[in-house]
Amino acid sequence: MKQTSQLYLKACILLIILVSFASKSIAQPDDPLKFNPDTKYTEKVLTFLDGRTVKYRAYEHIFYVANVADSVYQYLNFYVPEQAFQNNKRTPIFLKTNVGGFMASEASGPSNKDASGRALLEGYVLVIPGARGWNSKISKGDGIIIFTGRAPQAIVDLKAAIRYLRHNDAVMPGDAEQIITDGTSAGGAMSSLLGASGNYPGYQPYLDALGAAKERDDVFAVVVFCPIVDLDHADIAYEWLYKGTNTKARALSTEQIDISNELASLYPAYLNSLKLKMPDGTLITDNNFKDYIKSFLIRSAQRARNEGADMPADAGLKMNTGFRSSPGEFVLDIDLDTYLNYVVTKRALKTPPAFDKYGVLNKDTPPENNEFGNEKGEPGNFTDYSLRKATNNPSATIAAELKERVFLLNPMNFIGASKATITHNWYIRNGALDRDAAFSISITLYTKLINNGYNPNYALAWNRSHMGDYNLDEVFGWINQLVKSNRN
Ligand code: DHB
Repeated sequence: MKQTSQLYLKACILLIILVSFASKSIAQPDDPLKFNPDTKYTEKVLTFLDGRTVKYRAYEHIFYVANVADSVYQYLNFYVPEQAFQNNKRTPIFLKTNVGGFMASEASGPSNKDASGRALLEGYVLVIPGARGWNSKISKGDGIIIFTGRAPQAIVDLKAAIRYLRHNDAVMPGDAEQIITDGTSAGGAMSSLLGASGNYPGYQPYLDALGAAKERDDVFAVVVFCPIVDLDHADIAYEWLYKGTNTKARALSTEQIDISNELASLYPAYLNSLKLKMPDGTLITDNNFKDYIKSFLIRSAQRARNEGADMPADAGLKMNTGFRSSPGEFVLDIDLDTYLNYVVTKRALKTPPAFDKYGVLNKDTPPENNEFGNEKGEPGNFTDYSLRKATNNPSATIAAELKERVFLLNPMNFIGASKATITHNWYIRNGALDRDAAFSISITLYTKLINNGYNPNYALAWNRSHMGDYNLDEVFGWINQLVKSNRN
């Protein structure tokens, strides 16, 4: 009797253990962020304008967060070129963001007219994630609309996509430890943020809310074109640089000139607070910054001249008077005031304030005020200067919550600070004719990087306005070299 009851007890215990095991495996759902390697792909061919072709496999509509807040944008597409069909786990990933104007951007396919198609041609796995932006909205019914993509959600989405790639590195084509990002303008801001703010804890609450993969989000290299960054200082940088055109090519009203002068007067304190140094160690102040800016323009013009460009007569360039048969071969100097007025004759400048306009003289709402607006869809000021003007309250300050959002959108904050993983590999280009932001901002970004031990490949591109993905031979020459030296 005793034996039977002991047996019975043992059987019961075994049953309990079995049931608890079984229920455990039932209760634990499959990892919602696991990529299924059997995912169906389609085979396609991309033809380039010069007749070259690349065959590739297209995997599309892969959601990269567990709690999808917007199904139109929060997925990625990826493309594997023929060269990488075999052994593709070691192939670097070229990640292009289509973000522009801080608006929502859908994941798209490769284009034969930009770096995405070229990446396939070069044999890289191409990833194009969508991301929410200031105009992303969802309807909650009863006429209630919620804007879900205001700052910093675009960069949060891109980080989530990178975390997804790392999470699935073993089963997805491409090497998530070799991600090279590329973006232009607001997308350049995103690319530079991906390079500067890897794993920064301030984004974690946003990533957690989305159920992003618990992985790192630092990247291997970044390609950055005309980044719209340092938005908290973009207005003062713009007026400080362009003030000399106000009564000339820019032709502002007296009211606008007052605003321009006020903004410009605030820039030196900011610039000087950065304590940046030129490569030769000279401390940068508002007294010598213009000479430093000139040095980039001179280098830019000289390169264009070397490549055979005709140099404009009205850009303030001082060329040498000629040695034997090659007149105008060397750029000796540039008159910055003349040059900046030349820029303005090519494309009208923004009116002051260039970025934080909402409620200040201007009736239109630029993307930045929407980006820093709220979930209800209302735009917002994001600098004390404009907030004070807009509210007529000389002591108003930006709320702490908003300050944090502005902080999370500025790569300058992470360079030289702790807590973020910063890539060593930067390729940054800014058109010397770009009027969308002061090109001096990318000079400060570059200089902050070199001052902190990084070695970015930076230049102002002569005669280029606000654009990206140009000179792809050079871009991919840089990337290919980097990838090669990373292998050795
Ligand atoms: C972009 C252009 C702008 O002038 C701006 O203020 C913000 C973004 C863009 O092209 O992405």
